[in-house]
Amino acid sequence: MVESGRVIAPRAGRHHLSQNETYIMSIVKFYKEEHQVPLEMHKVRVVQKLFLPTVEERVQKLREAGNNTFLLQNKDVFMDMLTDSGVNAMSDNQIAASMQADDSYAGSETFNRLSRVIEHVFGTRYFLPAHQGRACENILAETFVKEGDVVPMNFHFTTTKAHITRKGGRVEELIIAEGLDPNLEYPFKGNFDIARLRALIEEVGADHVPFVRIEAGTNLIGGQPLSMQNMLDVAAVCKEYGIMSVLDASLLQDNLYFIKTREEAAKNMSVAEIIRKIADQMDLIYFSSRKLGFARGGAIISNNESLILKMKAFIPLYEGFLTYGGMEVRAMEAMAVGLMETLDEEIINQGPIFIEYLVKELSEYGVPMVKPAGGLGAHINASEFLPNIPHEQYPAGALATALYIAGGIRGMERGSLSEQRNPDGSENYAELELVRLACPRRVFTLSQVKYCADRVKWLYDNRELIGGLKWVEEPEVLRFFFGRLQPLSDWQEKLAAKFREDFGESL
Ligand SMILES: Cc1ncc(COP(=O)(O)O)c(C=O)c1O
Repeated sequence: MVESGRVIAPRAGRHHLSQNETYIMSIVKFYKEEHQVPLEMHKVRVVQKLFLPTVEERVQKLREAGNNTFLLQNKDVFMDMLTDSGVNAMSDNQIAASMQADDSYAGSETFNRLSRVIEHVFGTRYFLPAHQGRACENILAETFVKEGDVVPMNFHFTTTKAHITRKGGRVEELIIAEGLDPNLEYPFKGNFDIARLRALIEEVGADHVPFVRIEAGTNLIGGQPLSMQNMLDVAAVCKEYGIMSVLDASLLQDNLYFIKTREEAAKNMSVAEIIRKIADQMDLIYFSSRKLGFARGGAIISNNESLILKMKAFIPLYEGFLTYGGMEVRAMEAMAVGLMETLDEEIINQGPIFIEYLVKELSEYGVPMVKPAGGLGAHINASEFLPNIPHEQYPAGALATALYIAGGIRGMERGSLSEQRNPDGSENYAELELVRLACPRRVFTLSQVKYCADRVKWLYDNRELIGGLKWVEEPEVLRFFFGRLQPLSDWQEKLAAKFREDFGESL
């Protein structure tokens, strides 16, 4: 079944996945079908104590945080579902490896080890280290984007778009129509519309398209995947027009799971084979290893030396010397092991199966969720949850604050607040108003996931109490990170009072 390596079933006592082995998923059926729940194939060995403030304190903390979940202090958060970025639980092998880091400035063995793993996993010879995903985007934009350029992509990501527009470029989103319908069960909602890609290139001219960006596991539409075939089709169009293809592989891990489980052509391929098939067709790949590889850091990789040489000088300028690029060497060792572990289906399936469970629980109750379940987290469709709150009152932002009041759960607004205003200052309302409940891998237990579902259900039953928000401090760039807002009425106090009424003394 696997040509490049040996397929082995996981078993107790195995510690390392060597470079020519790949795991296959074990199947565990429950005796009683109704008890079929996600089963963790790991055990917890390091824990962090959590606190849950009272509902009255939660209203107060929210006020202090300017109604922006980014500004809440983690000590006041019970379930931190803001992001999966840099907060996934590491494996014992990652932590062990991090202790062997070689922190010499030049000629570091850690760099060599990581380079070898990257080459093994992606088949790419050249590797530029960077401190995280957006640093890679900065370098890409700095090197390749000029005034008036157009960068097509399936969908934008906040930092990607900010870097491209900062250089005078324009982002064009070419996602298939199915991708923007949150209720449609479609397996690969992150796919490019290939016909529109061709039409756009013809319209603006290939000379004005520095690269096409393919975002695996499309973040802002609910962590929805692209099919392997669609990625290959995009790369083929790029070759035809002589345009560089760039894969943002930050969310590739979940996307690989979906390719493996939803795409007929990939059913008999190992994860390792799927990665290589995709990577072989890309001119450049970059990723945030806060996501891919359960670590912290970033990388730009390629087999094309001349592309790498164009970017190389920016690494010591913006990031750090070429052997670490701003990364902590311990994180680089953890990243090397984490990337190898990404080849293990049993490791990459944990996020998606927990998310699927949460989406199913909530959908069955009637809560409008983005379907099908994607990677990264469960996504609530705030426009449908709160149909009476218009875009200009930020329904997804309001719902994120309500969820913190309901359960000390910190989600992230992924809607109009997360957008940049148009150059003329008018609002650029998001196509989807979502609240993301990120599920960092291996961090939450199933009872915590059930608690989260319970509080969302309560909120859904009390949704008529939720009101809108308005800005009180609105930064010009990436406003969602540090902007401050206010509720339009005393709806948050009323919601807290209803919580007290329904839950009594409960936290
Ligand atoms: C698809 C995608 N690209 C790029 C980034 C930026 O990565 P980082 O947060 O490491 O800067 C992210 C982060 O969430 C992402 O999801």
